Parts: sequence; C-alpha cells; structure tokens
Amino acid sequence: MTKSHELQMRSVDVRYGAVQALHGISLEVRSNEIVALIGANGAGKTTLLKCIAGLEKAAAGTVHFGDLDLNRLPPHERVKAGIALAPEGRGIFPDQTVEQNLELGGYVLRGDRTALGRNTELVFDLFPRLKERRTQMAGTMSGGEQQMLAIGRALMSEPRLLLLDEPSLGLAPLVIVEIFTAIQGLRAQGQTILLIEQMAQQALAIADRGYVLENGTITLEGTGSSLANDPKVRQAYLGMH
Ligand SMILES: Nc1ncnc2c1ncn2[C@@H]1O[C@H](COP(=O)(O)OP(=O)(O)O)[C@@H](O)[C@H]1O
Ligand SMILES: [Mg+2]
Repeated sequence: MTKSHELQMRSVDVRYGAVQALHGISLEVRSNEIVALIGANGAGKTTLLKCIAGLEKAAAGTVHFGDLDLNRLPPHERVKAGIALAPEGRGIFPDQTVEQNLELGGYVLRGDRTALGRNTELVFDLFPRLKERRTQMAGTMSGGEQQMLAIGRALMSEPRLLLLDEPSLGLAPLVIVEIFTAIQGLRAQGQTILLIEQMAQQALAIADRGYVLENGTITLEGTGSSLANDPKVRQAYLGMH
C-alpha cells in the first residue's frame, strides 16, 4: 500500500488527438519532498501537471494520491483531496484584487472565514509584497508579484501536494531568487512540492529528487545533486541559462 500522502504515476500516456504528449510516465512524490521535473520547451511538463490536476485525461496508466485513484476524480475533487496547481502563465484573475484572488483559491474551504483569514496571513508571511498590495488589481502587478499570487492562491486550499508549473518563467534573476527562496521556505514547513522547471540548476539545487523529461518520456531520475552533476544534464540543461 502507498502512504496516504504519496503521489504515484504509473505508465501514464496522455494524447492530444493523434499527438501523444506523454509516453509511459512513472514517477512519485513522497510526503515532504520537493521533486523537480526538468525538461525543455515542449517536453510535456505542463501536460504532466495537468494530468495530475485532472485538466487532461490519462489515456493509459494510473495516477494515485495515497489510496485515491485520481483518474476517477474531476479537477475540483482533486483540489479537495489536497492537490493544488499554480499554473504556467499564472492563471490569476487580472480584474480581481490580490485578496479576492486568494479567496477564490480557498473556495474548497466553503466560506470558513477563520480558515480563509489564517491561510491569507500565511501567504502574506511568505510573500510580504502581496500584503502591501492586497487591494491592488492583480493584472496591474509585476510578473514576479503575479507569480507570488499564483503560488499564494494555490496555497489557500491547504494542499498536501503543491504543483508549480515553471514559476521562474519570464522573471528577472533577482525575482527568481525570491521565488525560489519562498519555495525553500515552504519546504521548511513540510510542504510537499512537484516543481516543473526549465531552470534546471535552480530547481535541482532545492530538490530532494528529480526527473528529466524529454519528448514526453522520463529519461533520467535521481537525487537533485546527482542529476545536477550528471554530465548529460549539465550539457543539455545547465548551460541553457
Ligand atoms: N491543447 C493541446 N493540443 C494539442 N497539442 C498540445 C496541447 N497542449 C500541448 N500540446 C503539445 O504537447 C507537447 C507538450 O506540451 P507541454 O506539455 O505544454 O510542454 P512543456 O510544458 O514542457 O513546454 C507539445 O508538443 C505541445 O505542442
Ligand atoms: Mg509548460
């Protein structure tokens, strides 16, 4: 039996019509781990996260979260089960304030004001800049602030597994450092994270374990440090940025 907080994908295929985006993906994320999935543009990283979140269907294979068979659950049931996605491109609501976006992220709390307030404060502790901007329209904030909000919004549902899709995308180096520092802070609190990144060096530096995805297939896996030192990884990914 799996432990209750574990994610396990076994031999998962995902197709877009005639195009097969993922081929026989097997991976796991254990409680309190940061697992990095690295891969180039178009490798299938977003598709893999969408498959876990329920936004794309597995055409073959199984996805379990503890004893739950995720393939049977629609996306909102997966959020209730403890899976939250901070999507690529951030997916925040530009015409809503920071606070309203956070409240929407906590919709599974069903209007529990105490829990919403507590979680909002936790997000503000992690990203003080969001607190300063709590009444600002999300769409008017900088890219880095919007990324902080996307992560904060995902945290509002008290996830047991946080899925982060390329949080560094399009951000300036100093802001990337800020985001990665926050991710490490989350890990210190015991947050389990699957981190998708093209920035292999940064992601592997904070990851317990990692996987390399190429053309929809996992080609390498290992500890964060072993992958960061792997000659193939160094050549293919670490020189990119
Ligand atoms: N909605 C879609 N319809 C058809 N093909 C798609 C769709 N989304 C992604 N793809 C294709 O699937 C492959 C993987 O895409 P994606 O998961 O977005 O990669 P990554 O996130 O690693 O850049 C790419 O070849 C992409 O063109
Ligand atoms: Mg992507």
